[in-house]
Amino acid sequence: MTNIVLFGKPGAGKGTQAAFLKDKYNLVHISTGDLFRYNISNATKLGKLAQSYIDRGDLVPDEVTIQMLQEEVEKNPEAEGFLFDGFPRTIAQAEALDAFLEGKGMSIRATVALEADDEVLVKRIVERGKVSGRADDQDETKIRNRFVEYNEKTAPLMDYYKKQGKYHSVDGIGTIEEITKRLSDTIDTIKG
Ligand code: AP5
Ligand code: MG
Repeated sequence: MTNIVLFGKPGAGKGTQAAFLKDKYNLVHISTGDLFRYNISNATKLGKLAQSYIDRGDLVPDEVTIQMLQEEVEKNPEAEGFLFDGFPRTIAQAEALDAFLEGKGMSIRATVALEADDEVLVKRIVERGKVSGRADDQDETKIRNRFVEYNEKTAPLMDYYKKQGKYHSVDGIGTIEEITKRLSDTIDTIKG
């Protein structure tokens, strides 16, 4: 089973690239951000709980996010592998994911990060905000708060996965096709 974490700052291209990689490697794509937005648009209990955090650009509390992720994995018993997008985002989430997968005889094969400079990413998100309808894309203060959250809570995961020998990164600047190629080359090397 090939379980891959697609890692990167807000706007790095995780969702864009996941759309290609899930088909190429026959993986189930799980984006916690997409799941939260689905719940918000359907006004579920989970959506109502998550909305205020997301709208501010803050991370949603770990317990809620971890449980949602686990339920999504459970819904796909036939999966050949998972492509995790936007999860884990804290050390507690990464530890919970490792323990959860281990309980199922699975593990994370690799974490592949898209690297890009903050200023490029802020421009991308501001541009997307004109059409996305995402509250957290709308003003630069919220967008920058997402980077603060990333730096404080998510960046430590690089060392977490490096210590496990699972961290790989690619340049996230270029055309979408060029970046898909870089990611695929990395994944092919890992899969052997
Ligand atoms: P989430 O939805 O995961 O948002 P994000 O991480 O901030 O990242 P984005 O989805 O905005 O960017 P992306 O990397 O997917 O890039 P994309 O492909 O869209 O999370 C939203 C919120 O939910 C969080 O802030 C938090 O509140 C909550 N949440 C989610 N997961 C959580 C967790 N695990 N724990 C706690 N809270 C959680 O591309 C961005 C833009 O750039 C697009 O317009 C795209 O068209 C464009 N683009 C893509 N590639 C290129 C390229 N190569 N060149 C030029 N433009 C490009
Ligand atoms: Mg995304």
